[in-house]
Amino acid sequence: MRHLLTTRDLSRDRAIALLDIAEDMADVSQREVKKLPTLRGKTVVNLFFEDSTRTRISFEAAAKRLSADVINFSAKGSSVSKGESLKDTAQTLAAIGADGVVIRHPASGAPHVLAQSGWIDAGIINAGDGTHEHPTQALLDAFTIRRRIHGAASRGKGLDGVRVTIVGDVLHSRVARSNLWLLPTLGAEVTFVAPPTLLPADTSGWPATFGFDLDAAIDARPNVVMMLRIQAERMSAAFFPTSREYSRAWGLDDARFNRLGTDSIVMHPGPMNRGLEISSAAADSVNSTVLEQVANGVSVRMAALYLLLSGDREDA
Ligand code: CP
Repeated sequence: MRHLLTTRDLSRDRAIALLDIAEDMADVSQREVKKLPTLRGKTVVNLFFEDSTRTRISFEAAAKRLSADVINFSAKGSSVSKGESLKDTAQTLAAIGADGVVIRHPASGAPHVLAQSGWIDAGIINAGDGTHEHPTQALLDAFTIRRRIHGAASRGKGLDGVRVTIVGDVLHSRVARSNLWLLPTLGAEVTFVAPPTLLPADTSGWPATFGFDLDAAIDARPNVVMMLRIQAERMSAAFFPTSREYSRAWGLDDARFNRLGTDSIVMHPGPMNRGLEISSAAADSVNSTVLEQVANGVSVRMAALYLLLSGDREDA
């Protein structure tokens, strides 16, 4: 694998292979000595032009567990705030000798520009670009679902027949757009439920079904309910039902949570708006995988770094 920019071009076999490597990495993380020497001598740069808690620290933990050197770069406090371009920033990282760049950027497509530019010869991982994609989030979501369903027998398996309902601010969600491609590739059936104003106008070609009624979706007893964060920072007031309207119609409140099956999985990529898209009872329940998703993110990101930075980088 040369870069990880999108889940759209991942084949089923390749996705399952990555999840299986993540299982191996999770085994390493259980050991007393959590480190592998695999990426000793490699340098990974976390290049974050947008805020992050989970993604940035889990990539840092993942790289360190593989013995890579890690440089954390935040646009705030850097020469980006003086107007330095992505090109000059990338060429600076190339001069430092970066082998891998994990980039989060507010502009959709920025990681693709970096990968295709020739400014830097490094493996590029998209850690979230605008409203476009967040591939490692979808991979850790798939890993988490697979583990909850198949447990210790997960290796080699997809998500065949698993019914996943993704709820909320689909319009602005890069998590939704990466899960949109990956989960059906693995055999899952995906339904999106959202206010009409928070679904994209054009969803042609999306391998999913769509609805506006969360109560009907809950009564269909999905295996997985994935709540999305309301991204208030990306929307104007015209888009948004009021908070009260939103939580009443599209929030996973206590009453809706109690109607789910006892073995239904409740997911959220974080950060959560408690009381808006999800109640604390749902977020903190045994059905919730919110913290498992964070822990599994380290294993999945170790697998991605391993595939990009160890040995020869393949073009696929
Ligand atoms: N899920 C996610 O991307 O969280 P952060 O913004 O904290 O990285």
